[in-house]
Parts: sequence; C-alpha cells; structure tokens
Amino acid sequence: MSDDDVDVSMEEMGGDREEGGQGVVSEEGTGVGQPGDVPGKISDKGGDVKDMAPSQKKEGQKEYVEGVTASKKPAVYISLNRRSEIQEQRLRLPILSEEQVIMETIREHPVVIVCGETGSGKTTQVPQFLYEAGYAESAMIAVTEPRRVAAISMSQRVATEMNLSSRLVSYQIRYEGNVTEDTRIKFLTDGVLLKEVQRDFLLTKYSAVIIDEAHERSVYTDILIGLLSRIVPLRHQKGNPLKLVIMSATLRLKDFTENSQLFKVTPPVVKVESRQHPVTIHFNRRTPEDYLAEALRKVCKIHRQLPEGGILVFVTGQQEVHSLCCKLRALFPVPASTGGKNAASTGDDDEDEPESSQLPKISLDDYPVLPLDEEAELEQTEDDDLETLDESDDNTSLRGSEGRREQPMYVLPLYSLLAARGQAQVFKPPPEGSRLCIVATNVAETSLTIPNIKYVVDTGKVKTKFYDKVTGVSTFRVTNTSQASANQRAGRAGRTGPGHCYRLYSSAVFNDDFVEFAVPEIMRRPVDDLILQMKDMGIDKIVNFPFPTAPDNDALQAAEKLLLLLGALDKVTPVKTTRRTKKVRYSTRITPLGRTMACFPVSPRYGKMLSLAHQHNLLPYVVALVAALSVQELFVGVDKPTEEEEEKEDQKQRRTQLIRQKLTWAGAGNSQLLGDLMVLLKAVGACEYVGCSPGFCEKYNIRHKAMLEIRKLRTHLTNSVNAVISGVNLAVDPHMAPPSEQQAKCLRQIVLAGFGDHVARKMDNPSAEGDTKMLKYAYQTLTLDEAVYIHPGSVMFKQRPQYVVYQYIDETSHMYMKGVSAVEPDWLPLFVPSFCSFSKPLDKPPPRFSDTGRVVCHMTSTFGGHFWELPAVELEY
Ligand code: CDP
Ligand code: MG
Repeated sequence: MSDDDVDVSMEEMGGDREEGGQGVVSEEGTGVGQPGDVPGKISDKGGDVKDMAPSQKKEGQKEYVEGVTASKKPAVYISLNRRSEIQEQRLRLPILSEEQVIMETIREHPVVIVCGETGSGKTTQVPQFLYEAGYAESAMIAVTEPRRVAAISMSQRVATEMNLSSRLVSYQIRYEGNVTEDTRIKFLTDGVLLKEVQRDFLLTKYSAVIIDEAHERSVYTDILIGLLSRIVPLRHQKGNPLKLVIMSATLRLKDFTENSQLFKVTPPVVKVESRQHPVTIHFNRRTPEDYLAEALRKVCKIHRQLPEGGILVFVTGQQEVHSLCCKLRALFPVPASTGGKNAASTGDDDEDEPESSQLPKISLDDYPVLPLDEEAELEQTEDDDLETLDESDDNTSLRGSEGRREQPMYVLPLYSLLAARGQAQVFKPPPEGSRLCIVATNVAETSLTIPNIKYVVDTGKVKTKFYDKVTGVSTFRVTNTSQASANQRAGRAGRTGPGHCYRLYSSAVFNDDFVEFAVPEIMRRPVDDLILQMKDMGIDKIVNFPFPTAPDNDALQAAEKLLLLLGALDKVTPVKTTRRTKKVRYSTRITPLGRTMACFPVSPRYGKMLSLAHQHNLLPYVVALVAALSVQELFVGVDKPTEEEEEKEDQKQRRTQLIRQKLTWAGAGNSQLLGDLMVLLKAVGACEYVGCSPGFCEKYNIRHKAMLEIRKLRTHLTNSVNAVISGVNLAVDPHMAPPSEQQAKCLRQIVLAGFGDHVARKMDNPSAEGDTKMLKYAYQTLTLDEAVYIHPGSVMFKQRPQYVVYQYIDETSHMYMKGVSAVEPDWLPLFVPSFCSFSKPLDKPPPRFSDTGRVVCHMTSTFGGHFWELPAVELEY
C-alpha cells in the first residue's frame, strides 16, 4: 500500500462488475409505481386504513390510489390493509408526523440521513413509507441491520404492521432467511448485503437501500456506506436511480456529512423530534467493584420500594444476563397460576442451560437492602438515590417488609443470540400482578425498544472484543461504555412516561472515564476479510477507499500480510521504491485462489481450508470443521474454565471424560486424536450419527443448541461450496464416517495451511520467571515475546507436542492457546513457506499445494525469525 496512490475513481471501484450489473437492470420492470415517477404520498395519515378497505384483496396484490400533491402532479401510493390497533400504535410514533418531510427529501435527494431517538419508529416505519410510495414495485427495498436479532425481529414486526406475510416482508441473515421471489422488503444483516455487492455491484435488485443503526458503526455498515457512496451516482448515470437512506440514533453524523471523500454533496439530515419524556438520572455516589451485585441490589430496591413500571437492566453478556435473571427469579417468583410459568422457570428453556440448576438456593437475606443510614453516611452531593423518589412519588407498590408477600417479578433475558421465541416475549405484557424486568445486553440500547420501561439500571459496562493488531491476540474485555451509549440507555426509561435511570457509577467516572463515543469497530478489529472482499470487487487501492473512518495503517498491513501468507494475494511487480527510505513497496492483487476464498461466507483462513479440502477430497470434513469452529463454546464449561473452576474436581472429570473420548463416532480410533479440532469434528460426527439428541449432548457435555447451529451452518456452507466450486455436489451426510488415519493427518495439514502464522513451538528452556507450575507447558509463538500455554481444556494439554498450531490466543489468567492441533515440523516449509528461510534459495513460485512439477530442495529452515531448526525436506512445486 502506498501513500502516494491517487484517489480511487468510480471506475476503479466498479471494475468490470458494473457491466454485469447493467444486464440485470434491463430486466427490471417499469410502469406505474416506478420509484422515480412517484411524486409523493398524500399526507392523510391513517386514511389508507379506512378509505381503502381492500379486505378481499389477495396478499401482495397492489392497489394504486391516485391523489394530488401540492405540485399538482399525480401521486401514487400503495394502500395497506393495516389492522386498526396497529394503525393506532403507529399514529403515536413521532416519525409518523415526519412522513411527508422524509419522503419529499428522499424523492429530491439520492442520499438522505434520518436521525431520531431510539423508539421513534425509524426501523419499523421508514420501510413502510417507501413501500407505500411505490419503491417496492419494480425492485426490492433493502434494510440492513448490524445485528441478526434485529433483522429477524424487525422483519416480523413490519410484516405484522403491514398485514403482509413473511413471503413479502422477509429477512436474510448469514445462514438463514425466508426470502421468496415475492419478497418486497428485505431485512438483512449488513454483512449479507456486502456479499450481494460482490456479486452485483450495482445492487440492481433494489430500488432503495436503508442502512439502519448507522451510529453503531459496525464495520460492514461502514464499508457499505463507502461503497454505496459510489454505487448511488453510478445507478444515477445508468438511469436507474437507487435511493440511500442512512438511519442513525445518536447525533454523531459528522463522519458521514463532513466527509468530502464520501459524498460529493452533503446529504440532507431529517431529524425526527422524539416524544421523549423526562428521565431523571441518579448517579451512585461511588462506583462499586462488583457491578453485578450492585445491579441486583438496585433492582431489588426499586422493586420493593418504587411504584409500578418495568425495569430494564444493562449488563455485558449472555452469562451475566442469565446469572442475574436466575437470582431475581429466585427472589421474586411468579406463581404458576398467574401465567408466570415461563418466567418462574426460564422463559427460554433451551437458552438457560445448566446455570439455573447449578445455582445455590438464594435466601432473601443474602441480598439485604442496604440500610438507609449506610448510604446517608456517604457524601450528600450525589445523594440522588431511591429515597428521593420515595417521597416524591405516590408509592403504592408493595414493600418488602417482614411478613408481607412480595410482588412477583416477571424476569426475561434479552441478548442478541437469544432464540426468536425468547425475543418476542419482551414485547408482551407481563402476567397480571407482576412487574416486568428485562435483563439485557446492549442489544436493548438502540436495536430493540421494549415497551413500558420506567426504570433503567445501567452498570455502565460493555463487553468489547479487543484484538492486538500485531499479534492477533483477541480478548473480550469488560470496559466502561461511552457517554453516548449511557445516554441511550437512560433514554429507554422515558418512552411511555417520565422515568428514572440508575447509573451504578459516579458522575465523576461518567465525566472523566467514559469516552464520548465508542470507537468504530473498523478501528478495533482485523480487516483481512474486508480487504479480501474489497480486492475481489476490484477495489485495489484500499488506502483510498472512502471509509467513513479509515482503519489504521497497521491493521491494513497486517491484513495484507495474512492474505499474502494464505496465497489470496500476490505481490505485483514492478515494485515501488520510496525515495527517502529506499523501502521497496509492492502493490498486491487478488489470486485465483483468493477469488475462490472470497466466495465462501467465512473468513479467509477458513476459505483457504475449504479450497484446499477440495483438492484432497476432504470437503465434507472441512465443512463440518469450519461450521464447528464458527460456533462458540461447543462444550459446556470446558472451553472456559476460570482458574478457580480448574481446581474443581467436577470440571477436571468432565475434561478427562472428553479427553478419553468416551464419545464414539462409529468406531473412530483415538490415534487420530492429535488435536482439539479433531475432537470438534468427532463431536459433530458422533452427535449427528445419533440424530443430535439432547440426551446425547447432555451426556457428553455438548451444548445442544450449539450443535443445532452447527447443523444449520453445515447445510449452508455445503450449499455455498456447491455453488462456488464447479462440479462439486455435496450433501450433508448425517452418517459421515470418521476420517482414516491418512485423512486425519491431511486435515491437520489443512488446518496448518489456514493458520500458518499461528504455529508455536515448545520452549526448551523456559525462563523461571512467572508461574513455575506452568513452565513445562510453555510455548513460543511467532509474534509474541512472552510464553504462551496450551489451554487446560485442550486434549493436547497433557501431550505437549513439539509443534502445534492454535486457533487463537485467549488472554485470561495466562496467554492460552485454544483450538490446538499437533503438527510435524517438516510440514512447515511446505504449508507456510513464506515464514521459512531456506538454506538454498527457492525459485519462484513458492511451493504450493496446487503447483505441479518436482524439485528436490534440502534445507534447514528458520521459522518466523525464531531460528527453529526444521528438518530437511523434499519440496514439490
Ligand atoms: O428504529 P427506532 O428505534 O426509531 O424505532 P422502532 O424500532 O421502529 O420502534 C417503534 C416502536 O415499535 C417502538 O415503540 C417499539 O416498542 C415498537 N415495536 C413493537 O411493539 N414490537 C416490535 N416487535 C418492534 C417494535
Ligand atoms: Mg431502529
């Protein structure tokens, strides 16, 4: 990548894909309802319900209503047969009064930004406005969501509101969807739309694209906006305009509006005034260490002391959600007779896993409400706690005083991986006589608006994945959220009436320690998959791509390095030399292998593994393996023992049970067990063999839900493999036989080829610093100075082979390698040649699986600069 490259032009961005797209354009119909002709909808709000009454209409059959706009042009809109209660609900949404302004702005401008408080109706209403204005007539309306949960739930909600079925208002997420040929409005994750751009650069299937939740700054959203900034003018040139609507909650628009690289003309912003009720913010006077205990204490206190109204608690992850739910349910059970069966048990039985059964019984005394005088001892300046409320509000709720029955609490979890059934629950009213309490991750911050929340309890924490750009080590860390997020969270309390937000941290922490806005995701994560996809689209000069916020140079370089290693990119000669440093610069271009890799809906490493698997007739195994690797935490408890848990006998036994592989897969022998990835594969094979029964999963500590997810992914990946590789026609075989010895070895080589930069070697003389107990497990990697260790949950923990390849390093109590497989040193020159140095220089091209011709080369290699002496090998290339 060079600093002195010129600006990327539209032609460069489009590449030759543009032509392909044009062919599709001509297929699109014209006629009534062609979006370009629609002058706007007459603004008789709600009139469409009463006036049209198209009850005998066949679903999806359009009814055109002519009206007259101020400009006297005939207006066309499509009526919908909404149910009256839905229409009433819609009319209460602030965005409804802005419909005309929004639609006129969209009609007059190619790109429009709609900005409004969460809950104002952006996601549910704007697609309907466009539909009614005819934009779904000749092509579809796309609505992108950064989260899968939102894509599914919003498509269902919009279908219900429009009184249309999921055939017309559908969703598509990475591995599933219900899109049909009749689909008019398609909710999809941003990543899925990005894949579609790859196939059809001009997005000719769509007349309008709505990028929702742009403020979240998800990496795919950012790239899509960059691409769409070029696609929109191209579509205009082709005479088939595309409308782009960017929707955002918090007001941080300058990355979009004040970015001349992005849009040549600054897009207009339509602001939706919200009917937000006042929310009183209460800061804690001090910030507690244990925010979960504090959250529990605060919820109990609100419930016991404050009037009716739902409580929404923000914690950081699924486990915290479940743990808090269990404790609250135990404290304030909903009697089965009031319809609270679900709440009293789990409400999402398949999600709640063993947590509930493991939890000790909690007595009310374990979590006493702090005596008021303890709080009174603290500084008065921020004394803004519940007691203030007690006096001002008409307190009619039950108090938890001795001898009095406490009001039940209907506790529900909400996080992004929660099954659809669990998600839908939060929109329903709680059983009579109980108070609704939702324990959520930040998915409830802006994506989903839960009705009737009066109290928000904000831990101020968020779980974020951090990647070290150089080493590739990823860690999940709980950090303070941003001020913008905290304000969003508070806003959730004021949807239906005045509310209260209890911040479990002090105002000093909020002012001094919270960043104003979260750092966009693109700045925080590796970008190898994005670079590959962009290169595949013909965008070569990535440094000049109009990112709303550009990833930093280190990340771009690391991505390019990995893609070169994987053989997805080639260095192009002639090389450039910078005058000052005399440093040689290469530009890179995508290889045929890279193009194949880019077609798979998986990261480049897995794409490489799938490509190699084809050459070795191992596709069904690698498909199953990649599916298993894409699902987190297949084994209950084994993947993430904490230090204390490791001491626990039962955890040890579970691991031993796994390691000994009582798990039988139609006779697979233990000799193949040279890695965790083989265990994964074995688990999938064995589990499918017995029909994936919950009983089997429980017996072997396998998460049944994860296994079902793997099954879905296998089918999806099998379909993409069939589509990508010509002549391949795989089917998912539930009775897949275990791999032979030779195949199992080849599978480990394929894993090495995908993770060549993740090789580690056992340390001969590890220094005695640090944890002496762990010394014999110490390994050296290519990128880290300090030692890493095989994770105790690994089947390789005891074996400690000399060379291993790991999936990733997880930094918890130690730097732990996870997903470890044994590799042979003489595989390294062949599978990871670019990290080896050879005693005899190698001619180009470097040895690769796909190359033919035999040249013998003896060498001693040093691997990755660590001087690991490798045995002499014969290289074939
Ligand atoms: O996108 P924005 O945050 O502006 O609002 P929205 O998601 O369109 O939500 C508008 C309203 O619809 C909110 O009051 C939600 O509570 C309600 N809604 C609902 O009742 N059921 C759903 N499944 C989704 C939204
Ligand atoms: Mg929304």
